[in-house]
Formats: sequence, structure tokens, C-alpha cells
Amino acid sequence: MRSAVFAPLLALAATTVTAQYLNQTADFNLVVLSSNETINGTSLGACHEGAAIEGLCLGGASPFRLNYSSTFEVDPNIGVEGILAFELQGGNFNLSSPMSLSYYPTSNVAVPLFTPGYDSTTVSFLGDELYIPRLGYDDTQIPVNAPAESENFNRWYVCQTYAGYLYTTLAWVVGPGTPQNPSCQKVDVVRVFI
Ligand SMILES: *[C@@H]1O[C@H](CO)[C@@H](O)[C@H](O)[C@H]1NC(C)=O
Ligand SMILES: *[C@@H]1O[C@H](CO)[C@@H](O)[C@H](O)[C@H]1NC(C)=O
Ligand SMILES: *[C@@H]1O[C@H](CO)[C@@H](O)[C@H](O)[C@H]1NC(C)=O
Ligand SMILES: *[C@@H]1O[C@H](CO)[C@@H](O)[C@H](O)[C@H]1NC(C)=O
Ligand SMILES: *[C@@H]1O[C@H](CO)[C@@H](O)[C@H](O)[C@H]1NC(C)=O
Repeated sequence: MRSAVFAPLLALAATTVTAQYLNQTADFNLVVLSSNETINGTSLGACHEGAAIEGLCLGGASPFRLNYSSTFEVDPNIGVEGILAFELQGGNFNLSSPMSLSYYPTSNVAVPLFTPGYDSTTVSFLGDELYIPRLGYDDTQIPVNAPAESENFNRWYVCQTYAGYLYTTLAWVVGPGTPQNPSCQKVDVVRVFI
């Protein structure tokens, strides 16, 4: 079923994958761990980046959940995979939004955003630590996309970003390099159930 992720019709694949993650954890906060004591232990709060679009700002605290599938076999390399969900509360509606990474083609620093709809980025929790797993596609080896073992990546940073507003947010560095954004500091992200 995972191979659906790599289908050329990405939008369709994302829909398929989202539909598979029918189970939901309880609410948790996301907390940043850092060697920088100023930000170590600070939680991440949902913050307004656009109409019904939320980023993950340093400071504040919001309840998040992992949508996962109880029928997937848990891969010991990556833990429990799924999508991060945030419930947007409107005047007379609640809407669960998935997290996806938002990219500028000219930057290697991507910003996680919760946007209503089906587009989502698969994440994983190994224990309580948040990762983004590589699920098969590996272009560091030739031929690319040879069935590769799943592997977790931790490329979380806290950076000054602009995905609608100028904030200090959680960010993800695309690829193994260092962030081109000089404000970025490396962090780990853990969940703490509420
Ligand atoms: C997962 O979701 C299925 C389908 O809705 C449900 O039957 C099952 O009880 C859920 N399992 C857990 C662990 O929540
Ligand atoms: C960061 O916080 C964690 C948990 O609160 C603590 O275990 C760790 O020692 C702290 N690290 C530093 C460098 O202060
Ligand atoms: C620690 O974090 C604060 C707040 O983001 C920042 O101003 C400071 O430069 C950081 N210190 C180091 C050593 O990175
Ligand atoms: C939205 O969720 C909140 C908190 O769980 C709840 O109090 C409220 O009744 C919900 N609103 C709707 C329209 O379902
Ligand atoms: C997460 O799962 C719950 C329970 O199945 C569902 O109501 C919600 O819409 C899902 N959220 C997303 C973003 O897929």
C-alpha cells in the first residue's frame, strides 16, 4: 500500500494515504529540545499563516494528534507513521487539517503548515520523537528509487520563516545540507501527551 505514495499522481496518492490513516491518537503538545537553553523545552503553538492555515510557532501550545493506521505493521526503523493533524475550530465547525511541508523552490528550508484538504506529509514517531521517514524513495543511490530500507530523518530546525507572516517557526531542511537561512538552529521535536 505504501507504494501508492510514489505514484506519479501525487495528489491522488496523498488522498489515498490520508484515507488510510483512520485512527487517531489522543491530544499531545509538540515540544522543542535544543542544546540552546533559551529555547530548550519550549512548545510549539499553532499560529495564523493565512486563511485557515496554521504554522508551528515557537512559544504557545496547541493540541495535535497523529492520524495513523492500526492495520499497518509498525516498522521498527521508523516507528508509527501517519499524518499530524490539528483541529481548526471555527464559529460553527471543527475541521481536522493535515500537516504538509510548504516549499519555496529557491530555499532548502521548508515550513510545516496545517492546511485544510488532503495534501499531507507523512511523519513518524519513534517513541515520542518526531521524524519524517524515507519510505522507499532514495536518490542518494544509483539506480534511484531502488527499494530502499525505510529510514527516519531528523532535519527539524527552528528558524525565522515567512510563510504568510514573519515568525519564528519549526522548519525542515530539505536534503542533508545545512540550512541556507542563517537564523536556523537545530532542534529535536518530541510529543508530550496532554
Ligand atoms: C482504528 O480505526 C478502526 C476503523 O475506524 C476502528 O475499528 C478501530 O477500533 C480503531 N483502533 C484504534 C486502536 O483506535
Ligand atoms: C533540555 O530539556 C530537557 C528536558 O526538559 C533536558 O532533559 C535537557 O537536559 C535539556 N538540555 C539542555 C542542554 O539544557
Ligand atoms: C538561542 O536561542 C535564542 C532565541 O532563538 C537566540 O537568540 C540565540 O542566538 C540562540 N543561541 C545560540 C547559541 O544559538
Ligand atoms: C469543536 O470542538 C470543541 C472542543 O472539542 C467543542 O467544544 C465544540 O463543541 C466543537 N464544535 C463543533 C461545532 O462541533
Ligand atoms: C484524522 O482522523 C480522524 C478520525 O478518523 C478524522 O476525523 C480526521 O478528519 C482525520 N484528520 C485528517 C487531517 O485526516
